[in-house]
Amino acid sequence: MSNPSEAELIHMFKGIPFTIRSSPELLKSLDTFDAREDDVLLVSYPKSGTHWLAGVITKLYSTQVTLTSPIEFGDISKLEELNKLSSKRIIPTHLDYNMLPPNFKNKKCKMIYIIRNPKDTAVSMYHYYRDNPNLPTVDTWTAFFDLFLKGDVVCGSWFDHFLSWEAHANDKNILFLFYEDMKKDLSKTVKEMSVFLGLNVSDNDIQYICKKSSFSEMKSDTEKENSDPSHTVCALTSNRKLIFRKGAVGDWKNHFTPKQNRRFEEIFNEKMKLSKM
Ligand code: A3P
Repeated sequence: MSNPSEAELIHMFKGIPFTIRSSPELLKSLDTFDAREDDVLLVSYPKSGTHWLAGVITKLYSTQVTLTSPIEFGDISKLEELNKLSSKRIIPTHLDYNMLPPNFKNKKCKMIYIIRNPKDTAVSMYHYYRDNPNLPTVDTWTAFFDLFLKGDVVCGSWFDHFLSWEAHANDKNILFLFYEDMKKDLSKTVKEMSVFLGLNVSDNDIQYICKKSSFSEMKSDTEKENSDPSHTVCALTSNRKLIFRKGAVGDWKNHFTPKQNRRFEEIFNEKMKLSKM
């Protein structure tokens, strides 16, 4: 059987490429989604460390919380399912700020945005595309590099996504975290998260959470789980090896040619010239 074509896997909504796992009806209905004041959103551009963040946050709560699949994944019944959940909801999303259901903004729900060096994000996404039959085929890194810079990948341009959220960097209900900071000193970030979420977590618990959230622990835990993709952070695969690949900072150096690096930097500097981060 031949691979499905790009048109069979991807559709455009408000100018952004989505996989067919995000139905147009669901995407249209997001505008009227009923948020709850105590919802917590985990926001990221794909491959920025969403699973890591989710692993940490679910361990921070001592009360019952439900980690859902991303709000934009599924068909229209997804919203009904979310409405029915009785426990506190931790909701991941890859939506850019402008597409986020307005109710989350009006109710000032807490949101955590995780940022990763876009060069490493691009490399991580390349491997994810290459090994995931639910995404269009990419033949080479060179071809993917061009698609990434054009924003011709799921969730659109990294730059647009980041800038749409960065415009809200001063909103008190949004916490910005960096993947690289988490690699350097996870306990510092976990503490920051607990303060932001208003949770009282002891230093011992923080140490334990960090231990359980290391790349190797999470990778081996997830391989033991029998995961249902409709209830995990990544609804596009049940193959956990695609998610816990390398977990490193700087893997881009093994992929970018010097010329690609120069081109990336040029575009980065141009697009990010008004960015403060
Ligand atoms: P790599 O492909 O570079 O290994 P997301 O969860 O947003 O899909 O991001 C996946 C990326 O986060 C993958 O990057 C994955 O290895 C990395 N990751 C997941 N858990 C991690 C952890 N506990 N520590 C460090 N990186 C982690």
